[in-house]
Amino acid sequence: MNFIIAVDGPAASGKGTVASVLARHYGFPYLDTGLLYRAVGVASAGNLSEAAKLAARLDPASLDNPAYRTRQAGELASQVAASPEVRDALLDFQRRFAANPAGAVLDGRDIGTVIAPGAQAKLFVTASTGVRAERRWLQLLNQGERVTKEAVFADIVARDNRDSHRSAAPLVRAKDAALLDTSEMTIDHAFREALRLVELARSAPQGR
Ligand code: DC
Repeated sequence: MNFIIAVDGPAASGKGTVASVLARHYGFPYLDTGLLYRAVGVASAGNLSEAAKLAARLDPASLDNPAYRTRQAGELASQVAASPEVRDALLDFQRRFAANPAGAVLDGRDIGTVIAPGAQAKLFVTASTGVRAERRWLQLLNQGERVTKEAVFADIVARDNRDSHRSAAPLVRAKDAALLDTSEMTIDHAFREALRLVELARSAPQGR
């Protein structure tokens, strides 16, 4: 069995940073699955029937686009991600990515629960709402977006709510996912802790 590291968590929890550093450490390919939903959200402008069609023919090579990192793209992504048709259309690509023979790291909302429920290592990365809003606000300012911290806080609360309460693959911690709260952690600390948790899972007997 290949070694899949599933990293889930809410917006701006630090899951992307942790996942990409883990991927580099192990030499595995990394997929930020949020980008799939962001690309579909932007291309469809949030229109759900368009979104399902676009998801079915999404070119994964086109994901490296700064337009997908904006505040509006995050909001559109969360809207189209509630559609079961959109999720179904994106499933195969994610499963094939996870099947990379050596291993793979994927981050998102449903990696440990739906995309790769058999993943050997699962992390659920979180942080307080205030910390996440602050991080996302700074990131948006760095990208040149003018927005208040209060507006970003409200976005995060709305997105958490939508992502956790939808019926299709909601954001939930898998029963066997290790919890990593990065509220008080530097990136380096979060990475070291993530590595410790992954190594622990790696050394655990298979077939938990
Ligand atoms: O991780 P992110 O903020 O880039 O994700 C954007 C939105 O996409 C998020 O609010 C919900 C959705 N998403 C999802 O439903 N499932 C995933 N595996 C990844 C993202």
